[in-house]
Amino acid sequence: MSESGLSLSAFCVLGTEKGDEVAGPEMSLVCLTDFQAQAREHLSKSTWDFIEGGADDSVTRDDNIAAFKRIRLRPRYLRDVSEVDTRTTIQGEKVSAPIGIAPTGFHCLVWPDGEMSTARAAQAAGICYITSTVASCSLEDIVTAAPEGLRWFQLYVHPDRQLNKQLIHRVESLGFKALVITLDTPVCGNRRYDIQNQLRRNLTLKDLQSPKKGNSLPYFQMASISTSLCWNDLSWFQSITRLPIILKGILTREDAELAVKHNVQGIIVSNHGGRQLDEVLASIDALTEVVAAVKGKIEVYLDGGVRTGNDVLKALALGAKCIFLGRPILWGLACKGEHGVKEVLNILTKEFHTSMALTGCRSVAEINRHLIQFSRL
Ligand code: FNR
Repeated sequence: MSESGLSLSAFCVLGTEKGDEVAGPEMSLVCLTDFQAQAREHLSKSTWDFIEGGADDSVTRDDNIAAFKRIRLRPRYLRDVSEVDTRTTIQGEKVSAPIGIAPTGFHCLVWPDGEMSTARAAQAAGICYITSTVASCSLEDIVTAAPEGLRWFQLYVHPDRQLNKQLIHRVESLGFKALVITLDTPVCGNRRYDIQNQLRRNLTLKDLQSPKKGNSLPYFQMASISTSLCWNDLSWFQSITRLPIILKGILTREDAELAVKHNVQGIIVSNHGGRQLDEVLASIDALTEVVAAVKGKIEVYLDGGVRTGNDVLKALALGAKCIFLGRPILWGLACKGEHGVKEVLNILTKEFHTSMALTGCRSVAEINRHLIQFSRL
């Protein structure tokens, strides 16, 4: 975990640590969407479609990005921004910036070392990596690759309670610091490209061993995610783990209030990158009502459509404690493995630092709703 704050001078050396093969962002890769274009050239059509695809008409996937662009900022000047500190905490743990890695499955599809490379990059950047239930590397290998990194574990709740219990106890003993339960996937969204490409048949899950057969579950059995999960089931999870529980996929004030009532420790406002129910509201558009509903009682995070430092700033101004990146991490991984992920994180952190300086924010605590022009929303 990085102990030093990021000052303006610190950015002169971003990505140039000794031993780091990458001397800094290449001129051709200067923003996150540059990685998107290059990743496409590295990947097969079916893998590209798997990463990029949204559900149905991909309305929400695209709106996640467009909604950020509708928001305008209100900068403040003459505030001495010679020192700008991007550090913050999430669930009491220090991170170098309010930027983390959202859970995405099957990293070995895009880079041979898969999640091990992702974990190393997250550890080097001093940020949180949420490891997916459907990781292609084993949890043990991921932890061995980056033993000092801050990691949360994302759970797709399986209908077999014993399987959930075993997995949760395993992640606890491996040092994961929170349990992220994904709510928006009682059934898989309708992803037309994956159906066309018959992708699911070719993927298996190392960490979801079938207790009956003792072998890995193929991805198409993701239909075995629990369809019957209810709010009252949360107490069972609370009875078997001391890890903080964070609910991923909340988009409404009603569910946010229920989350607080059920004593969870955090919410990730998310629509699964537009891959589940299409035509739901963009994450950033849902954030305000969720933040208002929780009344500061628990931390609220956001993922979906974050591509620039201004996006990070806007999410924080509207009440998120941290944002998480889905696809941009896979783009970095596809382009250059661990170094690509490091570059993506470096570029976004640097952009966020610039956004802070240009709006007069010296610390994350100074980012607030006065930075947003509400009359436009
Ligand atoms: C995901 N997402 C996801 N979410 C989850 O809870 N468990 C998972 O295993 C996955 N897997 C996954 C794979 C791929 C290829 C993508 C693109 C997404 C959703 C993810 O955590 C996050 O909500 C979105 O990706 C955020 O949106 P952006 O940053 O991709 O726009």
